Amino acid sequence: MNHLLPELEDLPDLAGKSVLVRVDFNVPVHVDERGKRVISDRFRIREAVPTLTYLINHRARVTVCTHLDRPGGKFVPELSVEPIRAYLNELVPGVTLLENLRFDPGEEANDPAFVDWLVDKHDYYVNDAFGVSHRPHASVIGPPTRIPSAAGRLLAREAEVLGELITAPNRPFVAIVGGAKISDKLAVLRALATKVDTLIVGGGMSYTFLAAMGHEIGDSLFDASQVDACRALLEGSTKILLPLDAIAINRSTGEVRNVGRDIPRGFSGLDIGPQTAARFAEEIASAKSVLWNGPMGVFEDERFCAGTRAVAEAVAACRGFTVVGGGDSVAAIDAFKLEDHIDHVSTGGGASMEFIEQGDLCGIAALRNSVRP
Ligand code: 3PG
Repeated sequence: MNHLLPELEDLPDLAGKSVLVRVDFNVPVHVDERGKRVISDRFRIREAVPTLTYLINHRARVTVCTHLDRPGGKFVPELSVEPIRAYLNELVPGVTLLENLRFDPGEEANDPAFVDWLVDKHDYYVNDAFGVSHRPHASVIGPPTRIPSAAGRLLAREAEVLGELITAPNRPFVAIVGGAKISDKLAVLRALATKVDTLIVGGGMSYTFLAAMGHEIGDSLFDASQVDACRALLEGSTKILLPLDAIAINRSTGEVRNVGRDIPRGFSGLDIGPQTAARFAEEIASAKSVLWNGPMGVFEDERFCAGTRAVAEAVAACRGFTVVGGGDSVAAIDAFKLEDHIDHVSTGGGASMEFIEQGDLCGIAALRNSVRP
């Protein structure tokens, strides 16, 4: 238990009290063949159940609130929480779910009047929305300034697991970072380089690193504005492991080929190659702590999924403590049916990266400074 963070047990006399619970039910929703909106991935909703059950079992009246996507402060019927409400009522009957918080411009603006409206008639506030706790929005940082507040089970566990990983990991600590956009992850790469024993970089972002080392990258993804930053990171750290080969496609001819570190002109690297996968897997196997965020390639396309699958399998097989965060890597773990072999699957994408980078999030800090019961 984290003694600095108020938890559910710190809320006294819950019976008959009204509790506002902020969750992150920002889940993918698709329209099926009959035109019905259907939740594609329920992971985040299921993860909030222990907190809601605790409150119900202590006879509290529970009002749940979430954002869904980015409606921009106005009502967008396609972004109503209705399908989530139906599923939530199956999981935990008797709780009320407010409409999408981001329909109101006051949410993202952290408008005090919107905070007043949110906390009105509630005795306590619980934040179980780890995935959005890096956003200084009204429902995340406002209520703890008004009413006694606590971390829900999910948020407390995320903060504990990720906190331990960055402050006192069992070593060797290996982090694997992938994904396409280097600009999104540079800050976390810099932070990880100071904490880990090996930093594995794969995915679309690795080609800018390879270019910074002077390799040919053909037509692969490349962010010219980040080359100097990549070079500085490589010069400042000897722990970074980059791909040795790639699976690349020639977009004009459709030819797919396993190429070396230098990618021929006309080809784009879309996955790590088998030599890289074996090297990365070897490093992961020897780790006592593993953090994985971001796929190694375009794993949704079966021609380019072997690298991400190899990393996912290596993480699942690792006997150390394993943590996977970020929407795409969680989706990969899900697609390969490996979730039962991971010690902690984080519900936070951007939030988990920011937590690792800064060691805290504004929503968590707000709870620590909350009004006391
Ligand atoms: C997420 O899905 O990462 C969180 O719900 C935060 O969503 P946002 O990036 O739209 O703030």
